[in-house]
Amino acid sequence: MIDTLLDWISLLVRWTHVIAGIAWIGSSFYFIALDAGLQRNARLDPRVKGEAWQVHGGGFYNIQKFSVAPEFMPEHLTWFKWEAYGTWIFGFVLLVLTYYLNPSVYLIDPAVMNIDAADAIPASVASLVIGWFLYDLMCRSWFGRTTARLAISGFMLFLVATYGYTHVFSGRGAFIQVGALVGTIMAANVLIVIIPGQRKVVAALLAGQQPDPIHGQVAKQRSIHNNYLTLPVVFTMLSNHYSFTYSSPRWSWLILACIFIASFLVRHWFNTMHAGAKPDWRLWPAAAVPVICAIGLGVLSQPRVSVADAGAAPVTFADAKQIVDQRCHVCHAAKPQFPGFAEAPKGVMFDTPAQIKRQAPQIMAQAVKTHTMPLGNVTEITDAERAQLGSWIVAGSKLD
Ligand code: HEC
Repeated sequence: MIDTLLDWISLLVRWTHVIAGIAWIGSSFYFIALDAGLQRNARLDPRVKGEAWQVHGGGFYNIQKFSVAPEFMPEHLTWFKWEAYGTWIFGFVLLVLTYYLNPSVYLIDPAVMNIDAADAIPASVASLVIGWFLYDLMCRSWFGRTTARLAISGFMLFLVATYGYTHVFSGRGAFIQVGALVGTIMAANVLIVIIPGQRKVVAALLAGQQPDPIHGQVAKQRSIHNNYLTLPVVFTMLSNHYSFTYSSPRWSWLILACIFIASFLVRHWFNTMHAGAKPDWRLWPAAAVPVICAIGLGVLSQPRVSVADAGAAPVTFADAKQIVDQRCHVCHAAKPQFPGFAEAPKGVMFDTPAQIKRQAPQIMAQAVKTHTMPLGNVTEITDAERAQLGSWIVAGSKLD
C-alpha cells in the first residue's frame, strides 16, 4: 500500500517537474531569441535598446527592451522565476524519492565504488552545493573576465565533476547527478544572481535613482549560461532510460562530454540564427562529430558478450531459470519481494517460463550485453551467470 502511494507521489512529482521545466526552458528559449532579434529604432526613447514585432495567437505584439530600466517603475511587472524554482524543487524531491530512498538500487554500484548509503547521500548533496560555489566563484574571478576563458574553465569544471561522479556513483546515479548539478547551477543563477540584481534595479527606480547597469549585465551573462545548459541538462535526464549511455564508468563521462559539446554547438546555431546573422550551417556537421564520437564510445564500451565455451554442455532452460529466479525475480514479479517495489519495474515480469522466453532479447540487452541489471547488482549476479544467460539466449532461448 505504502509503496503504491509512493509510486503515485513519484509520478505526480515527476509530472510537475517536467511541466515546470518545459515552462522554464520555453521562457529561456523565448527571451534569448527575443533579445537577439531586437531592432534599433531611433524614434523610440533613447533608453530603449531595441524593439521587436511578433505575431501570435491572433494579435501583434510590440515589445521594447530597456537596457537598464525605464524612467518610472511600471505599474504591473511580470517576474520570471517560479518556472526555475519549481523545476528545481520538484526535481530535488524526485532525486530524494528515487535515489536517496533507494540508494543501493539506483545511486550505488559496488562494481564502481563500494560506498555506504550513509556516505553516498551526503556526498551527493554536498557536491551540488560545492559545485555551485565553484562555478559562481569562477564567474566572478579572473576566469570570468572573458567569455572564452569562462567557457573553457567552466567546461573543465564540468569534466572534473562528471569524471568524479562516474567513479563514485552507479552509471545511472552519476548521470542524474550531473543533471542535478547543472540544474542546481541554473536555478541558483536565477535565485542568487539574476532576481536579486533585478530587485536592486527596481529598488533604485522606486527611490528615483539611476540603477547601476552592472546588474543587468551580470544577469544577462548568467541567463546566457542557463540557455546553453538547457539542451544537455535535458539529455542527462533522458539518458537514464538508455543504459548504453551510462553503463561504462570508463567511458561514460566522455560520452556525456561529447553530448555537451554537441548541444552547445546546436544551441549556438539557434542563438546566432535568432540574432539575424547568416546562420552558420557548418555548426551542424560540427555538432555531428561529437555525437558520432559518443556513439562510437558507447559501442566500444559495451562489455564483450561472453557466452559459455563451445565445448561446454549447453545451458538448459532450467539453468537459465534458476539464475533469473535467484538474481532477477525479487523485483521482476507480479508481486515483487524487494523493498520499495509495489509492482514489477517497467512491467517486466519473470514469473512464468513463457515470460522469460518472450523477454530473452531484453535480458540479453540489460544483463548480458550491458551490466545494467540487476540494478546496483543488488542480487550479486556473477559474470559466469551472465555468460550462461547469454549462451541460453544465443542458442535460441529454448524452453526444453
Ligand atoms: C533491485 C530490483 C531489480 C533487480 C534485482 C533486477 N531488476 Fe530489472 N529493473 C529494475 C528496475 C527498477 C527497472 C526499471 C528501470 C528504469 O526505470 O529505467 C528494471 C528494468 C528492467 C528491464 C526493462 C528495461 C527497459 O528499459 O525496458 C529489463 C529487461 C530488466 N530489468 C531485466 C532484468 C534482469 C534480466 C534481471 C536479473 C539479471 C533484473 N532485471 C534484475 C529493477 C530490478
